[in-house]
Amino acid sequence: MDVRDLTGKQVLVTGAASGIGKETALACARRGANLVICDLDAVGLSDVEKTIHELGRDVIASRVDVSDAEQMRAFAEAVHGQIEAPDILVNNAGVAIGGRFQDTSIEDWNWIVGINLMGVVHGCHHFIPKMVERGRGGHVVIVASAAGYSASSNLAAYNATKFAVLGLGEALQDELRGDGIGVTVICPGIIDTPITRSARLRGEIGTDKARERMVAAYRKRNYTPARVAGNILKAIGRNRVVAPISAEAWLMYYLKRFAPWLMRRLNVLLSNIQKRQLNND
Ligand SMILES: NC(=O)c1ccc[n+]([C@@H]2O[C@H](COP(=O)([O-])OP(=O)(O)OC[C@H]3O[C@@H](n4cnc5c(N)ncnc54)[C@H](O)[C@@H]3O)[C@@H](O)[C@H]2O)c1
Repeated sequence: MDVRDLTGKQVLVTGAASGIGKETALACARRGANLVICDLDAVGLSDVEKTIHELGRDVIASRVDVSDAEQMRAFAEAVHGQIEAPDILVNNAGVAIGGRFQDTSIEDWNWIVGINLMGVVHGCHHFIPKMVERGRGGHVVIVASAAGYSASSNLAAYNATKFAVLGLGEALQDELRGDGIGVTVICPGIIDTPITRSARLRGEIGTDKARERMVAAYRKRNYTPARVAGNILKAIGRNRVVAPISAEAWLMYYLKRFAPWLMRRLNVLLSNIQKRQLNND
């Protein structure tokens, strides 16, 4: 798909009130697209809605919990009452949990699987059939993570959901090829967004000090969600199936493929550094 000019296209973004979703929605609006946006955060969503209006684009905005099957069904019905089908569907809404498997509760698992995996399943289930039926192609984006191909302690639940949606994206890419619908799984590295504040932290890293250290590290890395949004559009334009974003995401991608033993050693090194920091707290 030519993403340089999205005039007349309909782009749907989940989790559009903040971070990567917000910047992706705005980047598409700046290139001429009309938007459908949803999020749990009604206040943040209405700010984004206002900005899209100011850019002169149409926008449908709804407070929706992507993990709720019934809410997503009703949302899709309402959207399809106004537009035929999205041209680009961006399954972005997501949450994070930091902590070892042994410190992660079943409630935590239900929360993260409900949003990061089932939220994407709901988005695809309700919107892809109309894209296929319309017969004019399009593009499906799944925002996974570099944690979708590189696992480490303290990310067990997050890793599990992101590995899952990467697999879903690869399967969908195969399934939808004949319909002219591309599928791209976006795998960002360390991106400075409010997720560092909303992430649940469990076990020994569940302290204010550990959170502040993480917030500071993400800030220092200084890779902005706006830059991710630009790269998402590039990846759609190139019809990439898996798109690592940021240098660390590319490094992990290649290490995992060509030197998995080095990846494991790097994980041991990083986890030893973290243990030393926690001991010093
Ligand atoms: N920030 C990073 O370093 C990073 C790295 C890799 C992948 N990602 C992924 O990028 C995506 C966006 O994250 P972000 O960093 O922009 O975080 P963010 O917290 O800024 O944005 C996430 C948005 O999703 C919304 N959301 C959460 N639960 C929801 C639900 N149940 N229903 C609807 N909306 C919901 C939030 O309200 C928020 O607006 C996520 O899938 C995340 O896993 C982020």
